[in-house]
Amino acid sequence: MKSIHSDIQEVLLNKEQLQARIEELGKQITEDYSGNDIILVCVLKGSVVFTSDLARSIDLFCDIGFMKASSYGSGTESSGKVTIKLDLTEPIKGKHVIVIEDILDSGNTLYHIKKLLAEREPASLKICTLLNKAERREAPIEADYVGFNVPNAFVVGFGLDFNEKYRNLPYVGILKPEVYKD
Ligand code: IMP
Ligand code: MG
Repeated sequence: MKSIHSDIQEVLLNKEQLQARIEELGKQITEDYSGNDIILVCVLKGSVVFTSDLARSIDLFCDIGFMKASSYGSGTESSGKVTIKLDLTEPIKGKHVIVIEDILDSGNTLYHIKKLLAEREPASLKICTLLNKAERREAPIEADYVGFNVPNAFVVGFGLDFNEKYRNLPYVGILKPEVYKD
């Protein structure tokens, strides 16, 4: 039977590197929000793995909410048109909110989500992304917390998918081009 690992050309960030950096981010957030309760907004589906690890490295009272947006078709390029598929179920007015993303690419998705959440008047609103592809930015948005800056390649694993596959890889890797080019 074929292994899912055989479609990976190169491991960009291994398990240990990811865990170490997520611990650091958790400590940083714990210090920055000291004395406050926070809400982590997990942007489905890609951020689910990162959010679950990050939440466990934060030493604060912390709620977790979920949103889902889509700007991608089934390919590897953003369409630029963002629709909200699933919204938070509770109000965030007066709360400290951190939006958790898997990757900040064109920025279209987060730009839209941030605008929407800001209208609900949270006490503060920040963005934490595991990966940042700065080169590809189209929308005027930056993350407050970045796990890793990555090159302009399509990456999968640790929550990130290609056609809803590879989310369960325990590392972040670059797909073999033949996997998506046929
Ligand atoms: P943006 O709107 O272009 O910033 O794209 C954000 C979303 O696109 C992310 O949350 C991912 O779901 C997806 N995405 C962008 N780049 C990649 C990638 O390299 N691999 C997998 N998904 C990606
Ligand atoms: Mg995706």
